[in-house]
Amino acid sequence: MAGDLRHRRASAEDGGEGAPSAGEEAAANGKDGAGEPRGKREALGWLEWGRGWMAIVGEFFFQRIAASHLANPLELPPLEGVSIIVTGATSGIGLEIARQLTQAGAHVVMAVRRPKVAQELIQKWQNESSETGTPLNAEVMELDLLSLDSVVKFADAWNARMAPLHVLINNAGIFAIGEPQRFSKDGHEEHMQVNHLAPALLAMLLIPSLLRGSPSRIVNVNSIMHTVGFVDAEDMNLRKRKYRSWLGYSNSKLAQIKFSSMLHKRIPAEAGINVICASPGIVDTNVVSSISIFFSNHLFYFSR
Ligand SMILES: NC(=O)c1ccc[n+]([C@@H]2O[C@H](COP(=O)([O-])OP(=O)(O)OC[C@H]3O[C@@H](n4cnc5c(N)ncnc54)[C@H](OP(=O)(O)O)[C@@H]3O)[C@@H](O)[C@H]2O)c1
Repeated sequence: MAGDLRHRRASAEDGGEGAPSAGEEAAANGKDGAGEPRGKREALGWLEWGRGWMAIVGEFFFQRIAASHLANPLELPPLEGVSIIVTGATSGIGLEIARQLTQAGAHVVMAVRRPKVAQELIQKWQNESSETGTPLNAEVMELDLLSLDSVVKFADAWNARMAPLHVLINNAGIFAIGEPQRFSKDGHEEHMQVNHLAPALLAMLLIPSLLRGSPSRIVNVNSIMHTVGFVDAEDMNLRKRKYRSWLGYSNSKLAQIKFSSMLHKRIPAEAGINVICASPGIVDTNVVSSISIFFSNHLFYFSR
């Protein structure tokens, strides 16, 4: 996906094969190819929807085969002198990313809503690595993505250091499967805020530090579920249509891809900041456990 974004930016700049066609430009402007205003789309078409679910089912059944040639874990090069912020580093994928990067020598900032848990993790990793005698360069900063104030506070504190930032990994996310719709105190549907809006704000606010660390990158942890998402710019918080938790999640992940693509194109190439979306596949974490619990409860209900 990163390659794809880069390719599209390069091609768009030199007017090459990947540059948007007149039809695509028109579509982006809400017109048909002949320049006539087009009706606003209300939802995914059946074909797109079916294709999306097939991609999800395909990933579910075939990801092990597709990734069977990869070493696990992948070996990292020495990362001394590289500063990396990892959001949601207290469990699941973020925890593993932070642990491996720290052990490869990077300066890792665990941006989390439970600082005590993160401190304990650092202590544990430090004890484990005491045999090799390498001191770890990890620290904890508080960040709650359900509060945009917290995002601003975090970015201000980091930028005030006037230090370079080489990588921002926007990993933290929620999938509140089967739960009722909830809104943050900022007034946004929670999936949309935690998975897209707050990480997007964080990325924008950290651009001065990313410029100092250039070449640098923003990595947004996405999901194959974006293939069944639909973003209605006039109803980002799903107030007008029927809410379902999987829709809240999918929409937020699609919004994240759209934003990443736009940000990548808008940052001038000379700035040296790449914006990347990465889909981790299906990983056994808290997110997946809550999906399994949801399905086993419902299967139990149907089998009674
Ligand atoms: N697991 C999968 O199969 C899968 C597939 C595709 C994409 N993903 C994506 O991968 C990312 C990581 O998910 P995971 O599977 O590792 O789930 P996880 O184990 O539940 O971890 C999610 C992390 O996000 C943090 N978080 C949640 N709400 C937050 C908030 N308001 N502010 C700050 N941090 C918050 C959690 O903090 P606490 O520890 O404090 O709860 C936790 O550290 C997510 O973006 C998810 O959408 C996962």
